[in-house]
Amino acid sequence: MAATIKTIEEQQKMRVAGRLAASVLDMIGDHVLPGISTGELDRICHDFIVGPLGAIPAPLNYKGFPKSICTSVNHVVCHGVPGDRVLRNGDIVNIDITVIKDGFHGDTSRMFHIGKTSVIAERLSRVCFEGMWEGIRAIRPGARLGDIGHAVQTHVERNRLSVVREYCGHGIGRGFHEDPQVLHYGKPGTGFELAEGMTITVEPMVNAGKREVKLLADGWTVVTKDHSLSAQWEHTVLVTDTGFEVLTLGAHDGAS
Ligand code: MF3
Ligand code: CO
Ligand code: CO
Repeated sequence: MAATIKTIEEQQKMRVAGRLAASVLDMIGDHVLPGISTGELDRICHDFIVGPLGAIPAPLNYKGFPKSICTSVNHVVCHGVPGDRVLRNGDIVNIDITVIKDGFHGDTSRMFHIGKTSVIAERLSRVCFEGMWEGIRAIRPGARLGDIGHAVQTHVERNRLSVVREYCGHGIGRGFHEDPQVLHYGKPGTGFELAEGMTITVEPMVNAGKREVKLLADGWTVVTKDHSLSAQWEHTVLVTDTGFEVLTLGAHDGAS
């Protein structure tokens, strides 16, 4: 399937879906405290998405995924399944929200820190966040996906952290995961060329140790092979005539 170009009307629907996805992360922040379980976070987000937002949680039943959000704690890289795990002082957790509104997807994730976290956890999360923004800033018509990947990888590796290779960003729209695949490593001037009206995600996974990952027996949970900490941040981004527009900014994010 080729990458889709969104019409002006479709771009407006993507803006709405993106804003709603970000609002779930804004809402859940106050609940991410010591003593809460990831299953409780899932229930609160689910109720908010289907209730006040009038939207659909895209992960629920997606290829058999059993919950409405992903919660990836400490050495979990991505696709953590909410359940009985109780968050404790010193944990870090990525919460990944995807909603469908009026047929279009908005996809975004952030890191949350429980109580006082380690210096390496703070640095890992910050460098991953900065790497995501380096990638986003490379987005414009005529840019190539290798430009995005190179920008992310350069920042992360300069800080002696590693970029996960097996999972990547993606086109997004009526489909959850559309073409193209957006790798978070690469060479400038190579790969698929972006055009105005495309919508993609940038969502690097960064490990404190080695980049290798493994899939647990539940078929979903991805962890670092060396059990080192892992972080991820994600935005959904529109390619505009002159550059980019981030569709999933939160209430406390500046305008890019
Ligand atoms: N939200 C994830 C992404 O950024 C995908 C989660 S798929 C699920 O692409 F099935 F695990 F929910
Ligand atoms: Co995504
Ligand atoms: Co996501």
